Amino acid sequence: MNGFKEIAPAAITDNFIKLIGSDWMLITAGDHVECNTMTASWGGVGYMWNRPIAIAVIRPQRHTFEFTEREQMLTLSFFKEEYRDALKYCGSHSGRDEDKIHNAGLSVAFTDDDVPAIAQATLVLECKKLYCDMLKEECFLDKSIIDKWYPAKDYHKAYVLEYTLMHIFFRNAALHCKELISANTEDRILRKMIQQTPIGADQKIITFQMTMHIINSF
Ligand SMILES: Cc1cc2nc3c(=O)[nH]c(=O)nc-3n(C[C@H](O)[C@H](O)[C@H](O)COP(=O)(O)O)c2cc1C
Repeated sequence: MNGFKEIAPAAITDNFIKLIGSDWMLITAGDHVECNTMTASWGGVGYMWNRPIAIAVIRPQRHTFEFTEREQMLTLSFFKEEYRDALKYCGSHSGRDEDKIHNAGLSVAFTDDDVPAIAQATLVLECKKLYCDMLKEECFLDKSIIDKWYPAKDYHKAYVLEYTLMHIFFRNAALHCKELISANTEDRILRKMIQQTPIGADQKIITFQMTMHIINSF
């Protein structure tokens, strides 16, 4: 993706609670003919099935839902504060009615796998769908969530998504790898961090080499 570099999942030092919950993200899916994006502030990033995963929840009435259902891949894009108005726009207008991405002052960039992302992002997770299902009323143990968030019973569909070493793109190292940079990219710290990541030995070596390669090119 032009203007972006790939980065290992373990090198990201952002707090995703803030990144998703306060800063928000854009979920983008589609192809070269048609794609759509929407703002999301619910979801997560974690580790499951020995893979780095992200979770997104999308209500079926969203235009974006048609694309996330149709496609196997989608992207999560994160932005600097200056794009707050654009994210507000994408969270209050539907791509069903207009060219929302253009009207929000944004544009689409495609990953090497031809998955649409938002070009102005500072961080993009390119994700593959692993598991999805509708949230079910009978599965809520705290029923107050239903009253508060689903008075119309329009439950989200939850997607568990995998992102890989090759599928994280960033354009502003200072934003997303602060600790690594302030530690002056010391091998010792990086090695320790990667050692603590529960992945195989071969992957650790590759992750370390790639991360050093990326950091050295800052
Ligand atoms: C801050 C914010 C967070 C949002 N988070 C979600 C979310 O996590 N899931 C969801 O389905 N809709 C969420 N929305 C609503 C959609 O972004 C909104 O309905 C959007 O207009 C849908 O666009 P679309 O019809 O083009 O897909 C959020 C909106 C805002 C403003």
